[in-house]
Amino acid sequence: MATTVMAGAVEGVDGVEVQVEVDLVRRLPRVTVVGLPASAVKESTERVRSAILASGLDFPKQRVTINLAPADVRKDGTAFDLPIALGVLAAAGVVPEASLEGVMAVGELSLTGALRDVPGALPLALLARQRGVKALILPQSCAGQGAVVPELNVLAAATLADVVEWLNGKGALKKASFVAEPRPPFVGDLADVRGQALARRALEIAAAGGHNLLLIGAPGSGKTMLASRLAGLLPPMTFEEAIETTRVHSVAGLLPANVGLLEQRPFRAPHHSISPAGLLGGASLRPGELSLAHHGVLFLDELPEFSRGTLEQLRSPLERREVVIARSAGAVTLPAGCMLVAAANPCPCGFLGHPLKPCRCGDAMLQRYRQRLSGPLLDRIDLCVRVEPVESEDLFSERRRETSAEVRARVTAARRAQTERYKGLALHNNAMLDGPGCREAAQATPAALRLLRDTMERLNLSARACDRVLKVARTIADLDGVARVDLEHIAEAAAFRAQDSVDAREGL
Ligand SMILES: Nc1ncnc2c1ncn2[C@@H]1O[C@H](COP(=O)(O)OP(=O)(O)OP(=O)(O)O)[C@@H](O)[C@H]1O
Ligand SMILES: [Mg+2]
Repeated sequence: MATTVMAGAVEGVDGVEVQVEVDLVRRLPRVTVVGLPASAVKESTERVRSAILASGLDFPKQRVTINLAPADVRKDGTAFDLPIALGVLAAAGVVPEASLEGVMAVGELSLTGALRDVPGALPLALLARQRGVKALILPQSCAGQGAVVPELNVLAAATLADVVEWLNGKGALKKASFVAEPRPPFVGDLADVRGQALARRALEIAAAGGHNLLLIGAPGSGKTMLASRLAGLLPPMTFEEAIETTRVHSVAGLLPANVGLLEQRPFRAPHHSISPAGLLGGASLRPGELSLAHHGVLFLDELPEFSRGTLEQLRSPLERREVVIARSAGAVTLPAGCMLVAAANPCPCGFLGHPLKPCRCGDAMLQRYRQRLSGPLLDRIDLCVRVEPVESEDLFSERRRETSAEVRARVTAARRAQTERYKGLALHNNAMLDGPGCREAAQATPAALRLLRDTMERLNLSARACDRVLKVARTIADLDGVARVDLEHIAEAAAFRAQDSVDAREGL
């Protein structure tokens, strides 16, 4: 009769239960793996054999058949090493079969029998809790991810021999504990940014409403500096958000050893040469930068340098807050609920509209550049701000500047107002409002509506651009702590329109 060990595979950011069945038959020794195993799993048998021998145990000299069920789940990676080894040992009578009941095991084996960490420990631990397992055995270095999951008994093991001893009731395995990601030694604070009142305000509004933001300005004006401070303006992640973000990083195998939970909002800044698979996630199922930025910020510096095709593919996932990756065995959905911040120079030389330096770009060059800038992503961007070169007076002024924590307090209050307003709905910030929703949420005063209408006529705005102004105005009113959008909110929101900033040549 076959022995069964519970294991798990990862699909997207979810764990899927897999049963490892091992059967021994008195025939010529041979090992066969069936049940849609990828090549890494087929190689597993070689590692398992060496690990068992290195642990001072015997590998059965019989025909070993390993079945990974259900057959329609794709099994990839090295996480099946440990459950396969335990299955073989249980079938050979080295560990009692009963001891494996209710136990889920995950881990890669080295040839010496040591356990190595595997990607996706957190989603597998969530699966284990859902299945109500008695114990989940994880390699020591990633056991912390499992320990994050409440009400789950996670045991950290260093070697196969330790696990065998524990199953035989001889030794103990350590209960896993987790540490949160240590704060990086230097996190930029908004207080470092001198001057730039308008850009700071745009950052605050973007953070408060979850709006995508574009910064346009000359080289060295501080765009990168400003953008990199955005994640620090957002409210701290809730435990649920932290779990969701950590899940993605866990699947990508990016969590530092022993770290169980990411508590800082991610800030991802991919280089402009990134491929679509790198940005959105690829067939190998590694999450892309977009998903790694879940609940945080995706920063596209030098936006016009990104390939148009890559940006084009970002549009729909940004809106739907999830990305669907098609592959031969069906589609996988990954989370993508991040804020987008992009930065760009106003023209190829960077000095168009600069108060002191002349722009050296020709007309045709400028035209091409503007087309790239106003390309696929612009209509996903609610706020755009011109970052002027910082004035020397500001740069050397010793006046006290607001810190990220002070701005974050206002942002958090504004977010709370939105959570309250959208309770029971499928949205949680102003950026997610659609046209009708935004008119209802705005509760605009008659004077505000008149101004919006005037602005629309004067600037020849589309209905969508109009909605966008109203959305941003709603956020500004939330920062002010008022229920109705008024005149001044519309006026300020209209000044941050992206299309104007890109179109108006003189303005740049
Ligand atoms: N407002 C500012 N306050 C303090 N320092 C600033 C400010 N603006 C720029 N700097 C300094 O200038 C450096 C360059 O700024 P940053 O890299 O953000 O410019 P940029 O606009 O991104 O330029 P580029 O277009 O070349 O990428 C910063 O690291 C910082 O030291
Ligand atoms: Mg820069």
